[in-house]
Amino acid sequence: MTDGGFVPISSAFAPEAGGRVLRLRGWVLRTRSSGGILFVLLRDRTGIVQVTGRRDVLGAEAFEAAEHVQIEGSIEVEGTVAEDRRAPGGRELRATRIGVIHGGEPFPIFTDQTEEFRLDKRHLVVRSQEHVATFRVKAELLRAFREFLDGEDVLEMTPPILSGNAAEGGAEAFQIDYFGRPGYLSQTAQLYLEALLFPNERVYGLTPSFRAEKSRTPRHLTEFLNLEIELAWCDLAGLLDFEERMVVSVAHALAERRPAELRALGRPPEELSTIAAPFPRIKYGEAIERLAAQGFPVSWGSDLGTSEERALTIEERVPLFVTHFPKELKAFYMLRSPDDPRTVEAADLLAPEGYGEMIGGSCRETDVNRLVERLRETQANVAEYEWYLDLRRHGSVPHAGFGLGIERMLRWVLRRDHIRETTPFPRTPSRHTP
Ligand code: 4AD
Ligand code: MG
Repeated sequence: MTDGGFVPISSAFAPEAGGRVLRLRGWVLRTRSSGGILFVLLRDRTGIVQVTGRRDVLGAEAFEAAEHVQIEGSIEVEGTVAEDRRAPGGRELRATRIGVIHGGEPFPIFTDQTEEFRLDKRHLVVRSQEHVATFRVKAELLRAFREFLDGEDVLEMTPPILSGNAAEGGAEAFQIDYFGRPGYLSQTAQLYLEALLFPNERVYGLTPSFRAEKSRTPRHLTEFLNLEIELAWCDLAGLLDFEERMVVSVAHALAERRPAELRALGRPPEELSTIAAPFPRIKYGEAIERLAAQGFPVSWGSDLGTSEERALTIEERVPLFVTHFPKELKAFYMLRSPDDPRTVEAADLLAPEGYGEMIGGSCRETDVNRLVERLRETQANVAEYEWYLDLRRHGSVPHAGFGLGIERMLRWVLRRDHIRETTPFPRTPSRHTP
């Protein structure tokens, strides 16, 4: 019970609710009236119920006020729960009173509007059933990650979003005016998480990352949620095992806890509950050979872009690891492979069905001189990384970590064509409002 005796709409469908008087409130999905009877589809966060109201019961004035409530207008209702085969869920509320909270203006969102218009009206579009289902799955995904990490004794940390240096290459950082000095929005929390690893051994952050890339692709946002983890005493095999266990655990949790939403969005939950380890693993060199054999114009040193990753994963039903990239393709902090100086101990985890990279991870270089050498090779300003180099001057230990793009994973899990459908207010090169 809430204030005024209002109960959630789902209560109308409880077995014992038949014949009972309930008070409900929420938003109108649609109304129609015929022959002195009003039909309202009412929703709240727990469900949708059909409300019927007769003019002779409600009174002419109340009936007409209710009839004029717009889509997404808000009302409160008192009535009796009755069985009705034609109503959604087999029940309806026969109203004895309908109070208009806010009748509203004509709702501007309907089908067949352009994508641009829908993005302009995103603050209203987020009320759609599709978005409601999407963000319930997203909330569950975040919860499942936190539960998994808690179970693995990994400590949540709160790294900063504002920084005086650009961690992964200045060109892709959003620069801001920090009281007259340059500041940057975080591209990754990794370097800070590495600092926090030494006192805590196993740490993670779940924070926004920003990338000033003008990539207009269905998988790039300029702001995304990055789940980043650093594990002490971890080698590449250990890292892959950890990622695999994590993705399997979270996929199973979603299938178990959000089956209806998954189904509604086009992902049968069985496709997630049957995902199992081990995931296939191939080295970068092997990936290049496969792609070249398929006619891609690639050779050793070529980066794997959207179409290459798509070709590698289109037939897969579980994620695929690609490991041992050439060092030139990857960031300065990655550990050189002990048995091949051309490559680094890195792994990208590609989502199946063509969706592509969702995790980027690696073992971290532990030697301060090699780090300086790699920074110089990448033309970085070494002075800006002084604090990070300090981490290799005091009890440097082997460690590894990764970043998982939450919206990238959701795009796969929910089979969305475009990544913007996995976040309520997408930020892309062409848009940062509303
Ligand atoms: O591969 P990335 O760039 O790796 C890093 O930033 C590491 N420092 C992470 C770490 O080891 N702590 O980014 C990590 C993941 C990618 O695999 C991808 O899923 C996601 O972040 N990502 C994006 N998601 C949406 N839009 C973008 N523009 C993204 N760029 C990366
Ligand atoms: Mg990457």
